[in-house]
Amino acid sequence: MTRKLFVTTALPYANAPFHVGHMMEYIQADIWVRFQRMCGHEVHFVCADDAHGAPIMIAAEKSGQTPQAFVAGIAAGRQRYLDGFHIGFDNWHSTDGPENHELAQDIYRALRKQGLIAERTIEQFYDPVKGMFLPDRYIKGECPKCGTKDQYGDNCENCGAVYSPTDLKHPYSTLTGATPVLKNSDHYFFQLSSQRCIDFLKEWTTTPGRLQLEVLNKIKEWFATDEHGHVGLNDWDISRDAPYFGIEIPDAPGPYFYVWLDAPVGYLASLKNHFTKIGGDFDAFIADPAVEQIHFIGKDIVTFHTLFWPAMLHFSGRKVPNQIYVHGFLQVSGEKMSKSRGTGISPLKYLELGMNAEWMRYYIAAKLNSHVEDIDFNPDDFIARVNSDLVGKYINIASRAATFVTKHFDGKLAYSGDIAALQESARASASSVAESLDGREYAKALRDIMAIADRINEAFDAAQPWAMAKQPERHAELQDLCSRTLHGFKLMSVVLAPVLPELTSKVARQLFGLDRVFVWSDAAELPMHIAPYEHLMQRVDAKQLDALLVPPVIELLPPGGEAIAPEIKVDDFAKIDLRIAKIVECARVEGSTKLLRLTLDVGEGKTRNVFSGIQSAYEPAQLVGKFTVMVANLAPRKMKFGLSEGMVLAASSGDEKADPGLYILEPWPGAKAGMRVR
Ligand code: MSP
Ligand code: ZN
Repeated sequence: MTRKLFVTTALPYANAPFHVGHMMEYIQADIWVRFQRMCGHEVHFVCADDAHGAPIMIAAEKSGQTPQAFVAGIAAGRQRYLDGFHIGFDNWHSTDGPENHELAQDIYRALRKQGLIAERTIEQFYDPVKGMFLPDRYIKGECPKCGTKDQYGDNCENCGAVYSPTDLKHPYSTLTGATPVLKNSDHYFFQLSSQRCIDFLKEWTTTPGRLQLEVLNKIKEWFATDEHGHVGLNDWDISRDAPYFGIEIPDAPGPYFYVWLDAPVGYLASLKNHFTKIGGDFDAFIADPAVEQIHFIGKDIVTFHTLFWPAMLHFSGRKVPNQIYVHGFLQVSGEKMSKSRGTGISPLKYLELGMNAEWMRYYIAAKLNSHVEDIDFNPDDFIARVNSDLVGKYINIASRAATFVTKHFDGKLAYSGDIAALQESARASASSVAESLDGREYAKALRDIMAIADRINEAFDAAQPWAMAKQPERHAELQDLCSRTLHGFKLMSVVLAPVLPELTSKVARQLFGLDRVFVWSDAAELPMHIAPYEHLMQRVDAKQLDALLVPPVIELLPPGGEAIAPEIKVDDFAKIDLRIAKIVECARVEGSTKLLRLTLDVGEGKTRNVFSGIQSAYEPAQLVGKFTVMVANLAPRKMKFGLSEGMVLAASSGDEKADPGLYILEPWPGAKAGMRVR
């Protein structure tokens, strides 16, 4: 029976290019999708950028762009990665697209009609300088338990205490440094704690085949009543106050949907957008009970996909997901990937170094199974798998056998003995691999395929074809041996096609003369002719991995583009009298393209005149009324435009070409003109 499949991967946040963890998820799903397609099933495989939320809004603002333009910039870079690693999504869309606005609002209205939306006033930290409610990650302060400074609003990195942002001592906004104030705000909640929701979720999560066992066990913990008698599920706060980049809540001017409300709806939106493009009936498809809806995701976003999302769908009268396939995290050489430490692998650099994308696909597949386990990218292991297994065992079979066939039999293959048995055994091998691939046991699939390769290589060597070639009377035997070997190679190519789409397409067309790529049933078809062998795949060079894994050059440059100055004593520093200065007036200097004239108050009962080379970075009006830091005991200097009575401090890169930016210093709120900086 033909399956109808709707398959997605998690929608990546549109605030950064893909990292290799994303590529791992796409490779896992892409292999599964290609396998299903080879078996003749109908698959719609879609993804999209997750465009909304406070972090993206803030990142856009920092880069001086609208959120829409910022997100579009990230989206424009996606295709290079996807094409480069042969990820065959049918559609890539955005959660900021019109389909998503409409679908998210529809779903919300339906939930409200069901009586599942509650309105409650909550007290939340508000940044009075920025004029916005602060998400938890933008609040820091002292740990209420151990007093460690600069801890986030949810837990302490030093003592491990868990608390809420309102428990922090001396909290501050990481956006402006301001002390946040508590402010009331009306929020909307999805009543997940209602008995209706709990009953539904218990049933949905425990439906056999729905979830991996380890995922189900985690969920059972969430449902459980804790030691304080508190029942597992809380209502879910789905609204955020303006300013926010998101979708407005209908009939309630002001607030927006929390990004995690509209993000999974983006799965449907991308599918809908895809159906518009191909002229399909989205509404009919998405309601069709025969359609299997499957989401591939990482272990960090399980709650959203196993509680919130199915409940949203169910109670808005829609079909629920059939399966959530959860994978672990990819690490590099046993470490969590970290941009700041320069660890991790850049997928783009991988491609730019000329490394073969199918090495990566093969390697990742060789590590993946159906469980939620982290997997490790290890360079030595990578080289071994690619060179010994992929090239050494699999590719080499073709070149060795094909050479004899081209030389002695003009490309013709001929089999003697029990052909039916040969086909039967190929069918059995293919169906065992099929079971592994369908069950996402890719590591097992590749182990089994390599075991076939070992058997074929051993049989080929044991028969000593080079000796047969020298004895004309044994040429029929040689032709049979090579034919069986090449059939074995074809069988392996067919079942490896989901992992190695490009290579196996070449094998199908070039070597076996098909005018199409392989389908699953090709595995048992005996080839009758081959073209002369042409080079199929290079081995990986250890130097390529060295180049891939060196931290980016920028990490090797001195900080800020210049080396740290020679050591000084504290007395040397004390000679410099730094003071808080208020910028009372500011104007361009006529006749200078560089200088601004600053009138500064350092609490002396008179003002000072200071020239500063910051015209390129600031409009005078921006600076008036601000506080900054100046060197107050610098000998006055006579300049072309007048006397300069001090110097204001500004940050800049030692490498002006790399970063021409200039940034004057500003003290935290509360500092007064004339205070000494020490
Ligand atoms: N935007 C949300 C998902 C919304 S889905 C409706 C998000 N984005 S993400 O960019 O942070 O992550 C996207 C996917 O990449 C998630 O499935 C996540 O688990 C996965 N991975 C992130 N880092 C990863 C690794 N290091 N290894 C493997 N997968 C990783 O979460
Ligand atoms: Zn602490």
